Amino acid sequence: MFNNRLWTRRHAIRLGLATVSGMGVAIAAKKISSRQEILSSNNQQKRTAQDFEVTSRTPLKSRAASKGLIYGAAGNYPALSSDASFKARFVQECGILVPENELKWHPLRPTASSFDFSKGDWLAKFTREAKMLFRGHNLVWNQFMPEWFLYSANSQNAEKLLTEHITTVVKHYAGQMHSWDVVNEVIDPKHGRPNGLAHSPWLDFLGLEYIELAFRVAAESDPQALLVFNEAGLKYDTQEHEARRNTVLKLLERLISKGTPIHALGTESHILAHETAFNPKKLRTFLSDVASLGLKIMVTELDVVDQKLPVDINYRDIAVASLYQDYLSVVLDEKAVIAVLTWGLSDRYTWHSQYSPRSDGAPVRPLPFDSNLQPKLAWNALAKAFDNAPKR
Ligand code: G3I
Repeated sequence: MFNNRLWTRRHAIRLGLATVSGMGVAIAAKKISSRQEILSSNNQQKRTAQDFEVTSRTPLKSRAASKGLIYGAAGNYPALSSDASFKARFVQECGILVPENELKWHPLRPTASSFDFSKGDWLAKFTREAKMLFRGHNLVWNQFMPEWFLYSANSQNAEKLLTEHITTVVKHYAGQMHSWDVVNEVIDPKHGRPNGLAHSPWLDFLGLEYIELAFRVAAESDPQALLVFNEAGLKYDTQEHEARRNTVLKLLERLISKGTPIHALGTESHILAHETAFNPKKLRTFLSDVASLGLKIMVTELDVVDQKLPVDINYRDIAVASLYQDYLSVVLDEKAVIAVLTWGLSDRYTWHSQYSPRSDGAPVRPLPFDSNLQPKLAWNALAKAFDNAPKR
């Protein structure tokens, strides 16, 4: 616990290392199936490219919209502002943009007394001109915080820092936002806290109430925006993900019982291609439990980590497409699900190149479009998922 100590960089690094090692443990613990068949996670039948045939290249945003769903992706200023062909593909396929990093504390807050909205404003203008929805990510997190925060935040000033940040940022974009990820990744059972919460300066300086405070300030600052509780690790039939699902449900129930203005759960959905503990029934039950609280659900950061798959591209593309299909066939059956965003649109720009590189050095292939902006079987899987989804 941080008893009035500064939340120093040492803790931020420890948190970062914990996150990476945790992921490393998960990967190491999972023995990769050496079989050459393509095994979908919920049925043991082999699939081929023919299983993902589509009859048209109608854009994903149109297919989603025909069922009352929103499809879009994370995008960033460097790629969208400099790569015209990527920007064109993004406009063609996406009905919503979420900035990958530009609305986080580090880019927005160069100093304790200043805000830099330049890149966020460029992206907001891009969405207006493209007649695309815009969503914000994220107002409260324990990562990617500016240096000054790590050395100056404490129990005395944390509430003012949090309230001032959310008020200023949300009011700056008020009326333009479809939704905001108000809090991001607030739980982590691996951190060993009694209530399953993640290490966070906000938790240590303000206690659990920081979550409710964040939602209330955001609601006052933009009553139009959908306010989202964004969380990772909610999809698998593992002890950790079960604990995460239970913690999230308890937290959401508690927040709602106190009248907190919270409107949706964001489930990040970073799928690990080598993780086979997928139980559709458990996921359906969880999504239904969330919906029964009166909340909407958004798939906020969907992609498939092919880091541990065999290098063969045909094999990998079928495996990745199978996992998009298996996951979305379950998730889109829940009518409280209103949107699907992939965490990136093309393999040309994916965070996995840096964060989940393959040991053989082959480029990763997690997203709907390849690095030449051509649709892959993953695109087909998304298209078929929207085509087969029940209308909202
Ligand atoms: O902009 C700086 C640049 O000035 C500096 O020279 C460079 C070297 O340090 O860093 C650049 O910032 C990097 C930033 O991405 C922009 O590229 C940060 O170091 C790097 O940590 C940051 O990574 C992002 C990560 O979140 C941490 O914020 C990834 O791009 C982004 O994909 C990832 O997204 C997260 C979601 O927000 C939450 N859910 C998980 C998801 C994946 O980790």
